[in-house]
Amino acid sequence: MSCRGKLDNLKYLFSPSSIAVIGASRKPGKIGHAIVKNLLEYGFKGKIYPVNPTANEILGLKAYKSILEIPDEVDMAVISIPAEKVLQAIDEAGRKGVKVAVVITSGFSEVGNVDLERRMVELAHKYGMRILGPNIFGIAYTPANMNATFGPKDILKGGIAFITQSGALGIALMGWTLLEEIGLSAIVSMGNMADLDVAEVSQYLADDPNTKVITIYLEGLKEGTGKTFIKLMREVTRKKPVIILKAGRSERGAAAAASHTGSLAGADVIYDAAFRQSGILRAITIEEMFDWARAFALQPLPKGENVVIITNGGGAGVMATDACADYGVNLYTLPDDLKEEFRKCMPWFGSPKNPVDLTGMAVEDNYYKALKVAYSDERIHSIIVLYCRTAILDPMSLAKVIVQAYREAKSEGREKPTVVCMIGGTDVYNAMRYLNREGIPAYPIPERAVASLGALYKYKRYLEKIGEHKTH
Ligand code: COA
Repeated sequence: MSCRGKLDNLKYLFSPSSIAVIGASRKPGKIGHAIVKNLLEYGFKGKIYPVNPTANEILGLKAYKSILEIPDEVDMAVISIPAEKVLQAIDEAGRKGVKVAVVITSGFSEVGNVDLERRMVELAHKYGMRILGPNIFGIAYTPANMNATFGPKDILKGGIAFITQSGALGIALMGWTLLEEIGLSAIVSMGNMADLDVAEVSQYLADDPNTKVITIYLEGLKEGTGKTFIKLMREVTRKKPVIILKAGRSERGAAAAASHTGSLAGADVIYDAAFRQSGILRAITIEEMFDWARAFALQPLPKGENVVIITNGGGAGVMATDACADYGVNLYTLPDDLKEEFRKCMPWFGSPKNPVDLTGMAVEDNYYKALKVAYSDERIHSIIVLYCRTAILDPMSLAKVIVQAYREAKSEGREKPTVVCMIGGTDVYNAMRYLNREGIPAYPIPERAVASLGALYKYKRYLEKIGEHKTH
């Protein structure tokens, strides 16, 4: 039985007003304990009901012997009990009127228990209930302060939704994104995708005002779902950029993916074509996926093709120029009047061609003036700022000047996609973290900055091709 199309239930997956944790445990270190703790400590605003047949209280909350005893409506049930007990829990949750069950438990189709998994979904659908999982680490939605996972407690809030078919990778990335100042709206562990799949979750997030870009770690789709996937994802990419990291590219990688999630890894070229047809951007590495996502989450789409590079290092400028050719970023051949304007921002031995080379003599004021020119001239559409650490220009002072120029431009309605690359040591790293926090994506090497701007251009051109160009 299919429940596809009933996206209404998905609002209970992301913003439930009450959650029952079936298998909430009294023992620290157990999954059912960690989930209740994360819900509490990340500040979930709704009600939390631990369910455990032998406990009276868990982490200071009253525990219930059965979900049926809870004297309130329950929107979502997180299930963390052994596989052989899950059917009964689903039945009781269905009777209670639960809208969506998040099934953490392993031991279903991924180890050959296909029949148990099918029966679970059929039972849930009998009650109009949807299932996320099984075999997952949970779900988090930061605008609702909901961390219903057994991953780390803290998640930095932001505009990137991350959907993952690998649980362990998802948990690991929760900590990494925090370290890298990557703000997330949602983290969704998909597991076996017995019911809800990547396309349906993406469809919901496409209309979520807190999500600006959707990132997906995908190993493969289920047999027979390819065409629907393309159709649904086409609708999603009309509204939001989608970046997929599709693992299992090589023959052996595909075989590993098939045994991991039991999904159809299939020929990589087929996935590649499907992604292109649906307007999905394909990243090859995790770093690439989050680099691009950061640019989408923080910056508007460009309004035109003309890009200018502003640098204090000739070599960095050359590398960025090469990268522009690699990633489809068009460097603007500056007309004479603009060259004259840029010349006023640099020492006499600088170069006002594009890359605009302010030279190693450059200090904050040189960058500020050059940025003012770039933001105020309508013929320039996007800006790449490069900086190599010098003893005469402190990276944090430069970062502050970049933020100032960007904010001034924004307040005058002249906001343009801006990416920064800063090359250097610890103080440079701290300046980049500051820029990222202030809404300007910053990267440690030129190629990553250019590739991220290139992703904005790729998506902009796709929207133009399908007649949906907009600047979000
Ligand atoms: N309803 C509610 N609670 C129940 C229950 C029921 N029907 N049956 C048992 N419980 C309670 C237990 O008493 C226990 O609480 P306690 O520790 O306070 O005694 C708690 O629920 C958990 O049950 P337990 O039998 O101890 O299971 P477990 O915690 O050892 O394992 C899973 C349960 C789900 C974690 C385990 O089966 C599993 O699937 N692990 C893998 C999860 C995973 O890796 N997922 C994929 C991640 S990417």
